[in-house]
Amino acid sequence: MNNERRCWWKEAVIYQIYPRSFQDSNGDGIGDLPGITSRLPYLKELGIDVIWLSPVYRSPNDDNGYDISDYRDIMTDFGTMADFDEMLETAHRMGIRIVMDLVVNHTSDEHAWFVESRRSKDNPYRDYYIWKDPRDGREPNNWESAFSGSAWQFDEQTGMYYLHCFSRKQPDLNWENPKVRDEVFDMMTWWCEKGIDGFRMDVISMISKDPRFPDGPDKDGIYGDMSPYVCNGPRVHEYLREMNRRVLSRYDLLTVGEAAGVTIEEAQKYANLDGSELGMVFQFEHMDTLQAQDSVVGKWTTRKPSMSSVRAVLNKWQIQLEGKAWNSLYWDNHDQPRAVSRFGNDSDSFRVISAKMLATCLHMMKGTPYIYQGEELGMTNTVFSSIDECRDIEELNAYRQYVEEHSLVSADVMLRCINTVGRDNARTPMQWDDSANAGFTTGRPWIKVNPNYRTVNAKAALEDPDSVFRYYQKLIRLRHELPVIVYGMFRPLMEDSESIYAYERLLETQRLVVACNWTDTLQPCSLFERSGGRELISNYETHQKGMLAPYEARAVLYE
Ligand code: GLC
Ligand code: CA
Repeated sequence: MNNERRCWWKEAVIYQIYPRSFQDSNGDGIGDLPGITSRLPYLKELGIDVIWLSPVYRSPNDDNGYDISDYRDIMTDFGTMADFDEMLETAHRMGIRIVMDLVVNHTSDEHAWFVESRRSKDNPYRDYYIWKDPRDGREPNNWESAFSGSAWQFDEQTGMYYLHCFSRKQPDLNWENPKVRDEVFDMMTWWCEKGIDGFRMDVISMISKDPRFPDGPDKDGIYGDMSPYVCNGPRVHEYLREMNRRVLSRYDLLTVGEAAGVTIEEAQKYANLDGSELGMVFQFEHMDTLQAQDSVVGKWTTRKPSMSSVRAVLNKWQIQLEGKAWNSLYWDNHDQPRAVSRFGNDSDSFRVISAKMLATCLHMMKGTPYIYQGEELGMTNTVFSSIDECRDIEELNAYRQYVEEHSLVSADVMLRCINTVGRDNARTPMQWDDSANAGFTTGRPWIKVNPNYRTVNAKAALEDPDSVFRYYQKLIRLRHELPVIVYGMFRPLMEDSESIYAYERLLETQRLVVACNWTDTLQPCSLFERSGGRELISNYETHQKGMLAPYEARAVLYE
């Protein structure tokens, strides 16, 4: 029935660490590498196989490390290269692999290449970046940066603009220049030689730009949308195949491309099973299910997506990548609000049960699952009561543009949007225990701790056999034990239901049936009527025949 090529990263569960918010070891209020090393036993207990580490390279932190000024050094706030080596070695000794974030669509404007590049038009590094002459005395086109404002920054020194798809301190590298590719591939090889186990590639779908640099369609009445001309550009697959030939194929790596704007057709190329590009990609469609209809402006909204819209997207990816490419599975990461708040129900009565339901729904699908720090505790969105409490450059810039400069949105609505979908929701400190600052730091945390840490924390979760943590632990163990969860073919069930997300997984004679009630009310479900099944996991101890209780999830294996 199924002859998928088996390999370790298809069978693995990944845990993402956002180092700034994970564990501080020296009281400066910022998480660091020794902090991570000290928490490895916790991750071992959870049972994950791989850590994806958000960037730890040298950086002036305009975008918390996604603006790199030296790819071969460690951010001062996080420690030293010796701390890194120690973390890597300890993790390996414990059987945990480490995947690095690879941010090569852009560098920091403080990277030596850019410092040189901006000096003069004939500097040898000039063509490492994308420079354009003004158009009628203004920006070369109407593109809006992902962090608000124009995507072009004028540079006095040479009278030209450089492109920055993100902040103006993140100039885009010019991948057309073979020297840039050589530098990037050398740097990747250097890390591979150090013994790391893979790369998560930041906005890798954006490295090839449309060489015509045309205006984009109107976005918010202020700027144009660059995405049709920067995502999945004309040479992106050529570049990745070159990267694969020159670096990736020489090591045994997990690779996952963050692929903004990726379609299924494109993903079939990026993550082709022939292994010529990447292992898998992160797609965004299930994160964007609201944007089209319900946003206040841009990505900003106060609404929740419906289960059926999320299901339509995920089912489509499950079915259409079958036999062609490998899926990644995620609800949460450092750029998204907390899953239990966004897709589940974070009220006191339903937080735990709905977090477990979401976990079941995702972890029984086909693909490699990713857990974002704190998701295994059912950590929730926080409440920012003023923009002064926010730290994320995306939130701060959007607030300035939409509230202060253009009065498109009121301060109150914008703050509610930030509390709903802002990235800082994921970046509040990891909640370790109920002591001051949730045990994250003995100093003053760089971003405020979610006040619910007294009840929602790792210590409490470890003591409670029914915690969200224990449930994730079980899901991970099941995936390790049962090939049907990894390799079974996916088939949707009950697709007309507005309340229940159900599907089955098929491998040889085995049939795994999964059903999840996404509502807070009792719902009919007759999928488990057949006798002889073995329940693998559920978030309820007893079941009502023919029904699913509020947020009930069940996975039953029929052989
Ligand atoms: C990716 C990262 C995000 C960052 C952006 C620019 O989307 O996940 O955190 O701000 O790229 O590097
Ligand atoms: Ca620290």
